[in-house]
Amino acid sequence: MSDPRSTDFGFEQVPWGDKARRVRGVFDSVAGNYDLMNDLMSGGAHRLWKRFTLSLTNLRPGQQALDVAGGTGDLSAGLAKQVGERGLVVLTDINAAMLARGRDRLTDDGLTGNIRYVQANAERLPFAPNSFDCITIAFGLRNVTDKPAALASMRHALKPGGQLLVLEFSHPVAPGLKPLYDAYSFHVLPLLGKFVARDEASYRYLAESIRMHPDQEKLLSLMQDAGLEGCAYHNLTGGIVALHRGYKY
Ligand SMILES: C[S@@+](CC[C@H](N)C(=O)[O-])C[C@H]1O[C@@H](n2cnc3c(N)ncnc32)[C@H](O)[C@@H]1O
Repeated sequence: MSDPRSTDFGFEQVPWGDKARRVRGVFDSVAGNYDLMNDLMSGGAHRLWKRFTLSLTNLRPGQQALDVAGGTGDLSAGLAKQVGERGLVVLTDINAAMLARGRDRLTDDGLTGNIRYVQANAERLPFAPNSFDCITIAFGLRNVTDKPAALASMRHALKPGGQLLVLEFSHPVAPGLKPLYDAYSFHVLPLLGKFVARDEASYRYLAESIRMHPDQEKLLSLMQDAGLEGCAYHNLTGGIVALHRGYKY
């Protein structure tokens, strides 16, 4: 019997089982322009948000890290430097096109010995319990249909004492920012998508999916409900982005 639930795909309600296929369509379509568009859309700010995330990993040489929904591998590259030659980074993504771009990019950058690539759904990660010292997911959770399942799956794969870092678009809190941000997201982003990436619909999905994603406090509760402890978050760029962290004890 088909699943009677529905879920959001941007502002549209779609059958629960259809979201992953629709999200795959978006990332198949944007994979080729993904890095260029990230720089253009954020004015390079995504590099600072990722650098801040990497500054909180507490990883030491020889440790193991997992980058979920890692796409073209920005965080994985930084994690690989932190764990060094004796450590290991696993870059996972559900989308073969994004994963291939990540593998090619990191290989071209000479990052080879300590990175593995695994195509996997964040909701059902194929790793033994207690495998990783740190798990990151950047701009990925918003696209996942069953967020509680993904958070539980990531917690399961963490070692006791390990931490999960979730970098994601969130809800602006700085006074006066919201109207400007809305105008940018709903008018400028789709135009950038149309003229640079020749794909207006995917960039409209981006703006809509950000609005539908749980806000800072709601995501904090979801992390606590998944059994993560010591959960807290930092607002970045006035809350346009938030970095949530939680531990497994
Ligand atoms: C916006 S990109 C982020 C890529 C990278 N982490 C970064 O920050 O640049 C979102 C990624 O999430 C992946 N994704 C979407 N749904 C997923 C799922 N259920 N499980 C794993 N990855 C997923 C997409 O394929 C895409 O590569």
